[in-house]
Amino acid sequence: MNLSRIKVLVTGGAGFIGSHLVDALIEEGCSVRVIDNLSNGKLDNLRHNLKKPGFEFFSGTITDPFDAARAVKDIEVIFHLACLGVRHSISHPFENHRVNAEGTLLVLQEALKAGAKKFIHCSTSEVYGTAGYVPMPESHPTNPCTVYGASKLAAESYARAYYKTYGLKTIIIRPFNTYGPRSHHERDAGEFIPKSIVRALNNEPILIFGDGSQTRDFTYVEDIARGIIAAAKCDDLIGGTFNMGSDFEMPLKELAQMILSYTGSGAAVEYVGERPGDILRLHADSSLFKKRTGWRPPMSLNDGLKRTIQWFMSRPEGISALLEQEKGINWE
Ligand SMILES: NC(=O)c1ccc[n+]([C@@H]2O[C@H](COP(=O)([O-])OP(=O)(O)OC[C@H]3O[C@@H](n4cnc5c(N)ncnc54)[C@H](O)[C@@H]3O)[C@@H](O)[C@H]2O)c1
Repeated sequence: MNLSRIKVLVTGGAGFIGSHLVDALIEEGCSVRVIDNLSNGKLDNLRHNLKKPGFEFFSGTITDPFDAARAVKDIEVIFHLACLGVRHSISHPFENHRVNAEGTLLVLQEALKAGAKKFIHCSTSEVYGTAGYVPMPESHPTNPCTVYGASKLAAESYARAYYKTYGLKTIIIRPFNTYGPRSHHERDAGEFIPKSIVRALNNEPILIFGDGSQTRDFTYVEDIARGIIAAAKCDDLIGGTFNMGSDFEMPLKELAQMILSYTGSGAAVEYVGERPGDILRLHADSSLFKKRTGWRPPMSLNDGLKRTIQWFMSRPEGISALLEQEKGINWE
């Protein structure tokens, strides 16, 4: 499928991955509409696109039938990324479920009614829970540890049902952990890499919940955005579910040392109690997706981390202001 000059919708397009996807779609020549309620997203992430021809920002919520219908009107391809995050689900399970599962169901229904040609559903590696074996192909069992993982798995199932029952052309992608500029350090949206960068730049200890032997498979956000576009272009993926990762396993305690070294920080690493619902091991096998689409994530973790640190250092509000938004224990 050729994406240039077609009209696409990005739900959650003011968020971390969504805003990079918007940049990449505009580069592809698409007209892009975003629906986002700015609960975690920021208009700042889109400011450079607001006046571009064909770009449209719609402040609305995917859980409202009127907003969802308005968002999908005249859209050919939907990229569904809007969600509430993993730590949020620990303290707000019902609200998390309503957006991630019910909100997805509503967008699927409105997409079908509006005659959308394709629906790219952005799921997550959190649907797997801790790896039973590595690397993890798509056939690995799904045993999510949190309401976030469970609600994202329900959403995937709805997307599959809309393909099987109603013929909506859905593609499900499961990105593994993603990092880079515009990632969240703040409140319960905060992720390990951005939180640790903000702490290290302020000479505050990096916090590791548990013993730090937990592993993740990290991919740079611009590579993930290009991967999502590669998925949309590949008709061979319709009806399928695909991992997207670097296929490289990184223990958090090693990652903490890299962040300390690249920030030049004299801070320490502090080991604190375990995080509820924490996944102990994730390591993608994305060979199926790579083979079908030709996608590769070229950014090394070294270079990606350095770019991410540069981005945080260049924030106009200043690095100490960012620390005030960083909550340490961020799931309570
Ligand atoms: N960040 C990661 O490491 C990662 C890894 C795997 C998968 N994902 C998936 O990628 C997608 C994007 O994640 P992200 O990290 O960019 O998160 P994010 O929080 O930055 O983006 C989600 C966006 O959805 C918006 N949103 C929330 N509720 C909404 C609602 N009711 N209506 C409209 N908009 C709403 C938020 O304001 C935010 O801008 C999600 O589907 C997530 O599950 C993320």
